[in-house]
Amino acid sequence: MNRQTAAKDFIQATTNGGITEGYMPGFGNDFETEALPGALPVGRNSPQRIEYGLYAEQLSGSPFTAPRTTLERSWMYRIRPSVKHTGRFRSADMPYWKTAPHVVKDIISLGQYRWDPVPFPNAPLTFVTGMRTMTTAGDVSTQTGMAAHVYLANTDMVDDHFYSADSELLVVPQHGCLKIFTEFGILDLEPLEICILPRGMLFRVELPEGEARGFVCENYGAKFTLPGRGPIGANCLANPRDFKTPVAAFEDSERPCRVTVKWCGRFHITEIPQSPLDVVAWHGNYAPFKYDLRNYAAIGSISFDHPDPSIFTVLTAPTAEEGTANIDFVIFPERWLANENTFRPPWYHKNIMSELMGNICGVYDAKPRGFVPGGISLHNCMLPHGPDRTAFEHGTTESWEPVKMKNTMAFMFETRFPQQLTGFAAKEAPLQDDYIGCWDGLEKKFDGTPGLKD
Ligand SMILES: [Fe+2]
Repeated sequence: MNRQTAAKDFIQATTNGGITEGYMPGFGNDFETEALPGALPVGRNSPQRIEYGLYAEQLSGSPFTAPRTTLERSWMYRIRPSVKHTGRFRSADMPYWKTAPHVVKDIISLGQYRWDPVPFPNAPLTFVTGMRTMTTAGDVSTQTGMAAHVYLANTDMVDDHFYSADSELLVVPQHGCLKIFTEFGILDLEPLEICILPRGMLFRVELPEGEARGFVCENYGAKFTLPGRGPIGANCLANPRDFKTPVAAFEDSERPCRVTVKWCGRFHITEIPQSPLDVVAWHGNYAPFKYDLRNYAAIGSISFDHPDPSIFTVLTAPTAEEGTANIDFVIFPERWLANENTFRPPWYHKNIMSELMGNICGVYDAKPRGFVPGGISLHNCMLPHGPDRTAFEHGTTESWEPVKMKNTMAFMFETRFPQQLTGFAAKEAPLQDDYIGCWDGLEKKFDGTPGLKD
């Protein structure tokens, strides 16, 4: 097996055949990878002594006794055990990263809200210190709910690492690239790609192109997984082969560094004398991965009406209640609209689920104006919403001919729990005061006489 230098002092495994250089394809596979030959024990997890003097350690993403279908764990073979990568903790101040339950007095979350893109900062901020919470939902201590964040980063994390014991992180870049060094390997991420950073996994983020902005869904609950396809069958939506997990990569660095831990909504820092990204080999099914949203095979109606937006679910974080997700991650990608005698924009509705949307690029069909790339909207539990006047006019008069929706990619973090606004979202982020006005032009057409009205 060949070796290559990945970045700086990292030594990275290479995949045979080079089909996915630096990555292994598949969703939830039992992967195995080693950055040095023979580092990975064969046929057992924890032999008495391990090649290269490595330590064996298990990272459990599910309880030991979880059903086999949801059981997740990985075995890591590392230079030092993780216990050497934590120490005495001191509290850290992270005033903009909020955790549920977080209800701010005098802030009304009941409303239809929309924000312009949150501007890039002037002060130096990393992926972690630049996290700005927009909404929280549920309760982190019962491992239910989520938080929706915007990250604003212009500074690399140098000898600075982070992990969340509270959550897995779904990262959705909107501007700029991220290079994420994790215990399991290296992820390169650009807009229109997403990644999952598992609960409890150490990482740091560098910014190869300078400043970066995007969205993070912090999932306190059960891990994101692929939705069932039902009658759709064995293919389409997000196909498992398109998910990519990094090959092993490690650094053997004695530079002093620090680790920040998020635990029950609070942040703690510890200083350590070496890099904790020292996993030389690993195997298992609990690991980070990335996915290119352009690979999503969208399904829609080819007769009339259009399906519920759940047809665009990329990943779902389930609860014990079947079909009731803690979070659905839904996208609105480029696609053909080929339904006749149909109002093609999303219909007007109220929803028991709470919908936070973001625009990654292009134009969103229900809101041709005002919902710009980098922008965010919130339609909370049982708050009515739907197309604005412009979208309604177009949707009720357009030709029935098939049409391709181009240059568009929006997403939704949809949760069963009401989303509470943070002080940042209500008072500091660029909230559009006139958003509710986008429906002002929807006049009464009914006059008591039959017939379709213009
Ligand atoms: Fe909706």
